[in-house]
Amino acid sequence: MALGIVTLNNKKYMEIKRKLNEYGIKVRQIPLITVEIQSTNMYEIILNKVSHLMKTIQPPFIVEDSGLFIKSLNGFPGPYSSYVFKTLGNNGILKLMKGIKDRKAEFISLIGLALKPQVVKIFQGKVYGTISMEKRGNKGFGFDPIFIPEGYNITFAEMDIQSKNKISHRGRACEKLAKFLINYGIPT
Ligand code: IMP
Repeated sequence: MALGIVTLNNKKYMEIKRKLNEYGIKVRQIPLITVEIQSTNMYEIILNKVSHLMKTIQPPFIVEDSGLFIKSLNGFPGPYSSYVFKTLGNNGILKLMKGIKDRKAEFISLIGLALKPQVVKIFQGKVYGTISMEKRGNKGFGFDPIFIPEGYNITFAEMDIQSKNKISHRGRACEKLAKFLINYGIPT
C-alpha cells in the first residue's frame, strides 16, 4: 500500500516522494484542497488539517505545512507564509528587508501523519539560513529564490531537488517520518 500525501503542490509532492522513496516507502499524491484555520500555532493548524481530512479520507496519509520565520521581522510571515507569498511574494519580502542587516531566517516544516482513526503523529524539521539580497535561481518553489541555507552561498532555488532535500526543513521532517514508519512497519 502506498502512503497518501495530501497536497496540490506538485513540487512539494516530488520532494516528499523522493525522500520517502530513498527509505523504500511508496507514496501517492492525494490532490485535495485542505482547510487551514487561522492560528499563530503551526501545530494547531496541522492537527486541525489532519482531523478535517480524516472525515474524507482513510488513514494512513500525511499532510505537510511549512513556514518561513524571519528573525528581524519577529518571525513574520511564519504561519501566514502562504498568504504572504500570494500577496507580497519574494519581491515584497525583499522590500521589507531593505536596509536590514540581520537577515537570519528559518524554515519549519510540520508533517502530520494520520496513522489510524484518532491516531496522529507530528514530525518537525527545521533549517536555518539567511534571506538573500536578491532573487537567485529558478528551481524549487515559493521562497526558494530568496533563502540561502546555513553553510552555503547559493539559494534553495539554485539547488537540485536532491541537494535541497538533504538539508531542507521538509527533508528533515521526512527523515523523521520515514524512520518512524520503518519502525512501525507501514506502509512499504
Ligand atoms: P505551505 O506549507 O504549502 O502552506 O507553504 C506556505 C508557504 O511557504 C507557501 O507560499 C509556499 O510556497 C512556501 N513554502 C513552503 N515550503 C517551501 C520551501 O520548501 N521552499 C520555499 N518556499 C516554501
